[in-house]
Amino acid sequence: MTTYNAACMPGDGIGPEIIAEGRKVLDAAGEKFGFDINWTDFDTGAEKYLQTGELISEDELKELGKFPAIYFGAIGDDRVKPGILEKGILLAIRFYFDQYVNLRPIKLLKGVETPLANKKPEDIDFVVVRENTEDFYVGIGSRAKAGKQRDHLEVIRDLYSVKFGIDVETDSDELAYQIGVVSREGSKRVMEYAFDLAQKREKKLTSVDKANVLTDVYGLWREVFEETKKGYPNVTTEYNFVDAVTMWFVKNPEWFDVVVTPNMFGDIITDLGAMIQGGLGLAPGGNINPKGTSMFEPIHGSAPKYKGKNVANPLATIWSGSLLLDSLGEHAAASAVVSSIEHSILAKAVTKDMGGSMHTSDIGDWIAKDILRG
Ligand code: IPM
Ligand code: MN
Repeated sequence: MTTYNAACMPGDGIGPEIIAEGRKVLDAAGEKFGFDINWTDFDTGAEKYLQTGELISEDELKELGKFPAIYFGAIGDDRVKPGILEKGILLAIRFYFDQYVNLRPIKLLKGVETPLANKKPEDIDFVVVRENTEDFYVGIGSRAKAGKQRDHLEVIRDLYSVKFGIDVETDSDELAYQIGVVSREGSKRVMEYAFDLAQKREKKLTSVDKANVLTDVYGLWREVFEETKKGYPNVTTEYNFVDAVTMWFVKNPEWFDVVVTPNMFGDIITDLGAMIQGGLGLAPGGNINPKGTSMFEPIHGSAPKYKGKNVANPLATIWSGSLLLDSLGEHAAASAVVSSIEHSILAKAVTKDMGGSMHTSDIGDWIAKDILRG
């Protein structure tokens, strides 16, 4: 029997409750399909930060690096200023392990209500491949203080001294800037991943950008897309601007198969995607480094107000677990997990937010049993 080693980081808020359900399901999938997952727990999160002042240490990161996969719950806590845990833990892991693909399936499961009138499961079934390490997420920016990033400041100074009469040297609290970085290598590798995925699906890839306005960064993105597509003559390609794509996701989701997009646009359009597939409770994600350590997490947050109430919907986490199985090469088990999620929805064995009466802790049991039966 194959044994996989995986890290588990439940995190804050509802994280531990939803991860517990995910683990029940993945363990059942192992039993059914003949493998074992040997879990190692990490207590990284708000509690530890509040007690020790440490977000995530180099040692913890090194330890995590021994695993092919991390199963991640959620982070965020009312007692910590927004951004600290998100940047210090979640983004830290994404960047440390160079998880350059953020894979976010947008799929309407049978029995799920979508807010889009007349759209059916066959209409809403695509995948967003979000670049996950560049763009405005590189963390280069400044509340403009003279002396930092001088060359950029020169330009900004000229612009704003005329526009609002701001003297950047003295009015250092009057403006801030953030830099988005796109690189040829960084774009190429995520596009290749997206093309490979499209080849396994309907062979259609849409690049989403804003190359009509942000011509430097997304101009390069397009140039790389044009080059990369030459290697995939059997994949149909098109471009959409990000503003327009938000309309098409709503009006014609059936047009899309695989979408590849820079980091920040990917962040935004996948929340829209989550909504059309039934809400954040049903939106899974994977942060993938195909040759390293990947991390799987629901795209929703830690919902602190539901912590410990046994009401949170664990389906997004369970579905993310299916992506984890896929990354380990356990494809049959991965699809069995998604099928059983679908069965639970059709049987109305769901939490209150989806119109059911089950508790968080019932869901994993139900789905695990369904997998073992199936
Ligand atoms: C997401 C989240 C994160 C992001 C935050 C919490 C850093 O919104 O995973 O989509 O912006 O990527
Ligand atoms: Mn987001």
